[in-house]
Formats: sequence, structure tokens, C-alpha cells
Amino acid sequence: MRVLAVETSCDESAVAVLDAERGLLAHELWSQIDLHRAFGGVVPELASRDHLRRLLPLVRAALAAAHTDAAALDGVAYTAGPGLVGALLTGAALARALSFGWKLPAIAVHHLEGHLLAPMLESPAPPLPHVALLVSGGHTMLIEVCAIGDYRLLGQTRDDAAGEAFDKTAKLLGLPYPGGPQLAQLAASGRPGTFSFPRPMLDRPGLEFSFSGLKTAVMLAVRAAPLSEQLRADVAHAVQDAIVATLCAKALRALEVTGHRSLVVAGGVGANRELRARLSREAAARGVRVYYPRLEFCTDNAAMIALAGLYRLRAGERSDGMIDVRARWPLSELRPPGAPATTPVPG
Ligand code: KG4
Ligand code: ZN
Repeated sequence: MRVLAVETSCDESAVAVLDAERGLLAHELWSQIDLHRAFGGVVPELASRDHLRRLLPLVRAALAAAHTDAAALDGVAYTAGPGLVGALLTGAALARALSFGWKLPAIAVHHLEGHLLAPMLESPAPPLPHVALLVSGGHTMLIEVCAIGDYRLLGQTRDDAAGEAFDKTAKLLGLPYPGGPQLAQLAASGRPGTFSFPRPMLDRPGLEFSFSGLKTAVMLAVRAAPLSEQLRADVAHAVQDAIVATLCAKALRALEVTGHRSLVVAGGVGANRELRARLSREAAARGVRVYYPRLEFCTDNAAMIALAGLYRLRAGERSDGMIDVRARWPLSELRPPGAPATTPVPG
């Protein structure tokens, strides 16, 4: 089975072609970062318009790079939520139009299921069941992945997501959007111990997170006195340290609670080198193996949507009703591929 996938949930336009036997044949991506930078964040209307401009050339490029054409495809997958509704609609409309024109089945994919399955594109793939730490710009969740499509939420953030905490504190330090990678870069020249920020919820039992207090603490530090370049780096170091320490401690706690020996890290913040280094070190000391997607598949991409779509198309699932997308879509509504849905899924 060979699937073409389209991802447009936020500010990345992406198209990929995945073959069940031969693996990933092509993945093309256009990032809108330069478009949104002047506004300090994603402007939804601009995102939708740019997706419209970029998508068809990306489809052509992906088919060419994969040395394939519509006749050799078996389905079209697309991200149907959660995400920005206008942006999602551009990808959904294109994917459904292609599936109609090419007479192929279409499948609506949950963006977070894509992130969760991204490490399965690597070798070795993580065994099931496992614990997943899903850390992106919009989500911070610990999930027990019992099987594909069987996800149990163990804990999540009560307010800001980890990526949001990175981005908002980076903004306070005057770093350009998106702040996460910039803050990580600045943190590399920071001195440990100059600043110490709260490690939210670390002292409390359970698997919930809260990052909004961190933002306030950084705001107070930044406003207290003008910061030299070195002190800015020290603040960045302390911010990253607080976020990474919290994520590590709760992820290890989730492994303890469930008894699983494998941890998957997915989502944009999973690209953070400090997080990867610390998690691998602390997990290894407990006999736990950590699995990551390659760096470019931590952030939004269509390869992960193709994989999730492939599992579901192969099980006979189809999205052939009205074109529908969802800004919010709880992961707990998903069922294993082929199982009847308890609530309507988009499409
Ligand atoms: O998964 P993703 O690409 O998009 C969402 O679905 O949200 O995640 C984007 C988030 C942003 O908040 C970005 O700042 C953060 O991931 N991010 C990082 C790094 N790379 C991306 N945060 C910290 N360190 C990084 N290296
Ligand atoms: Zn994402």
C-alpha cells in the first residue's frame, strides 16, 4: 500500500509519500516561519493563504521525488485536527479533492496520533506498550500507548504547553519567533546556577504539568534589571533547566507507575538536545530505553501523517462524508485502526 499525506495543522505545509514495503519515498516541507516572524507568532489567516499557495507544488515535488504518480497510490491521508481550522481546511480540501479526482480512498488523521507514531518510522521502532511524552507548542502530555489507536492519558499540562513555555520566555528575552530553538541555543552559553526558576509541580505527586508560573518568574527576573548578554544566556539556561528537569522527572514517574520499559518522546520540544541527553541518561540508569523520531520528524511533518493514515487505510477505514476538520479533538476518542468509532470522526 502506498499513501500520499498532507499536513497543514499550523504553520508548516508538508506532503509525504509512504510505501508499506519500501518505507518513506519522499517528504517535502515548506515552513512559514519567515512569514510569521514579524508578528511574533502564527497569524492564522496568513497561514491558510500560504498553505493554499504551497500545497500543489509540494504534492508535485513529493510525487516526483518518490518517482511515483497517482496511478501507483492507494490512498490520501490528511490532518483533520487538532489545529487551526482555516489551515486544516486547506489541507483537508486538497486531500479530499485529490482522492475524489484520483478515485482513491481518503483518511482523516489525528495530528497527535501522527506525532505519537513518528518514532515508528525509525529503526528499531519502539515496542508496544510504551509510555509517550508528547511535547509540542500546543500540548504537553504523558500517554500510555497500549496499542496503535489505544491511548490512555496519564497526565497533561494544566495551562501552558512546554513549547509554549519555551516560546513565551524566549519572547521575554527578546528572541525571535519561534523561540524554543533560539532559547536552547542561547542556553548553551549560559552558566548553571546564576538563576533558579521554579520546577512546576515537581514536588507534587501525579503526572500533571504547569508551566505558566515559570513565565511569570522569568518576567520578574527580566524586569528587575537590564540584563547583559551573559545574564540573558544564564536566564535561558535556567529556563531550559527547569522545563527539562520537570519533563524528565514526570516521564520517569510515568514509567514507574505503568511498569513499561520503553519511552517515546515526540513533538517539537523533543528536538531539544538537552532534553534528549538528560532523558537518555536518566532512563538508561533505570534500564529504560528512549525512542525518538529523527530531528526533522519531531516537528510537524507529513511523514508521520502518512504512517498514521496507512495503518488506518489498511484496516479499511475511510473518510468519505462531508469534509470536516476539528480545532479540538481529544486523543481519547480514537480507537484502534478498523475498530468502530464511538464518536464521529471528521470526514
Ligand atoms: O510539534 P511542533 O512542531 O508543532 C506543534 O504541533 O505545536 O512543536 C513546535 C514547538 C514550538 O513551541 C517550538 O518552540 C518547540 O516546539 N521547539 C523547541 C525546539 N525545537 C522546537 N523547543 C525547545 N528546544 C528545541 N530545540
Ligand atoms: Zn505538531
